Amino acid sequence: AAPIDQLVKQVDGLNLDAVKAKFPDTYPDLNLMDLYRAHLANVLSEVTGVDTAIIYPNLGWTSGLDKGDIALPVPSLRVKGKKPDELAQEWAAKFPDTDPLFTKPTVSQIHLSFFVKASPLVNAVIPMVQHKGAEYGFNKADGLKDPKDPSKGQKRIIVEFSSPNIAKPFHAGHLRSTIIGGFLSNLYAGAGWDVIRINYLGDWGKQYGLLALAYEKYGDEEALQKDPINHLFQLYVRINTEMTAEKEELTKRKEAGEDVSALEANSLDEQARRYFKKMTDRDADALAMWKRFRDLSIVRYKDTYARLNIHFDEYSGESQVSEEAMNKVGNLMEEKKICKEDKGAQLIDFSELVPGKEGKRLEKPLVRKRDGTALYLTRDISELLGRHEKYNFDKMIYVVASAQDLHLRQLFKIIELLGYKDIADKCQHINFGLVLGMSTRKGTVKFLDDILRDVADKMHEVMKKNENKYSQIEDPLATADVLGISSVMVQDMSGKRINNYTFNMETMTSFEGDTGPYLQYAHARLNSIRRKAGVSDEELATADLSLLTETSAINLCRHMAGWPDVVKNTLKTLEPTTVLTYLFKLTHALSSSYDQLQVVGSEPELMKARLALYTAVQTVLANGMRLIGLSPVDRM
Ligand code: ARG
Repeated sequence: AAPIDQLVKQVDGLNLDAVKAKFPDTYPDLNLMDLYRAHLANVLSEVTGVDTAIIYPNLGWTSGLDKGDIALPVPSLRVKGKKPDELAQEWAAKFPDTDPLFTKPTVSQIHLSFFVKASPLVNAVIPMVQHKGAEYGFNKADGLKDPKDPSKGQKRIIVEFSSPNIAKPFHAGHLRSTIIGGFLSNLYAGAGWDVIRINYLGDWGKQYGLLALAYEKYGDEEALQKDPINHLFQLYVRINTEMTAEKEELTKRKEAGEDVSALEANSLDEQARRYFKKMTDRDADALAMWKRFRDLSIVRYKDTYARLNIHFDEYSGESQVSEEAMNKVGNLMEEKKICKEDKGAQLIDFSELVPGKEGKRLEKPLVRKRDGTALYLTRDISELLGRHEKYNFDKMIYVVASAQDLHLRQLFKIIELLGYKDIADKCQHINFGLVLGMSTRKGTVKFLDDILRDVADKMHEVMKKNENKYSQIEDPLATADVLGISSVMVQDMSGKRINNYTFNMETMTSFEGDTGPYLQYAHARLNSIRRKAGVSDEELATADLSLLTETSAINLCRHMAGWPDVVKNTLKTLEPTTVLTYLFKLTHALSSSYDQLQVVGSEPELMKARLALYTAVQTVLANGMRLIGLSPVDRM
């Protein structure tokens, strides 16, 4: 922690260990702002007579650098006897002129705004970023069972995400789940948690009996090998169309007074049910066929996930939940009088179990059908308890569309009613809204791979327009693919998760506005500046940072100093947009700095200092981009 030592030495009375002891949950050697807040709390305590323990937690973030680096709402200190705006004036006047880290605060009504002095910050933050590199911003202590004793091990989190349904299109909901889940996994891994990524496939139920039937009738081995996902989807569509037609026909005839019971007994629907029953009875042939569909689909999914920098530790799925485990849960539900019989089926009437409105809101879900088969919810109950047994997790996140809010509330409540409140409390549903306008013109659904290919094609077109740059890119198609993926991801992460958004190829691929290509361009440009200057990292380490006195340079440093706080806040919001908003502030500050901070052509020492700055900015930008799942490109 060399950079911080220097800073500490400049500040009277501060010592790292003392800071950590006095302010718990503070990591000044990872987060400069922790040191700044500690120092400020000490100074303000003198000024106000209030205890540092009360001041420290009330030192907040500002909405922008123009509002300062740290803000204090005066009423939060609960000093009686004077009006907050008078206190604000008084304290600002009393604040020492000679403070090493801060200039005198500014007052706006009941708020004090504190601005850092440039030189100590610049001299500390750049070396800190150089020193931490890809780790800068991430605090592994968050994931420790005991932050004071790493030997007690890491906390474990399961992130369940993506979870597409075999033979059905990977739709926008799965895309969002994949993007958000990948981000959350990175976030927790960066924070030192032991992250288990689970993909809970939709691969079980009567519709898979129907699919197997379709394969027996129309399946094509070669087509299956070549493109399992598409082939299975085609079969699925075909058999569904047939089944719908058949149902209509039977209804018509029935209405005309015909006895159709014999036909019904052998309808596609009935055959599918029987086939699925064979699967649940573990019939070897039926299972073998289904397993091939599943395995071949997983191979394909893995390719797509690799393009998105995502991997899973476990491909679980509805089919992996054993009947035995579900029977056990069934017995427990009966024992605890949670479920009751209704026309031969089993259901849970929450209105009888949970008082008030909440009980009504949870409705009356089925947990066993009349034929004894389990349902989506039943499988989730067993799976959750099974995961707890297997992984003994400290936390589990389900990244699932908000269309399933009720389902997950029911699930967590059932777990609680079964007597596992401790486990239910560890579970969290991370939901998200819809993506609109993603189907094709004909209204048919699109596969994720096709979408990614279309966006990559579009980026490739754009890249080709600049022949000179294009010719220098080693693998333009691969770069176009990365840029396309960045476009899709940034668009998805721009708003709050819960908001719906409209999939728009034009806006997402534009270089103007807050887009994926804009971020990538910012990164590539920094890279090109460094390439042209050709100064080694060792040389940069000796740069004279006191030469960085321009407002743009100082502002970039202030942004960089704020990055660890952004990561920390993201662990609270669990919103990708928290990171994105920061990255766009950083890159806007970057774009507007170029005029003021020329590199090539300036004095060698100045050039070195500016390069050190830009290299540090590049590190922070890349750290943020990787956190949300983007692969920063070096040229584009
Ligand atoms: N396969 C489901 C669907 O596509 C999502 C699964 C969500 N996860 C869960 N544990 N239920 O709708």
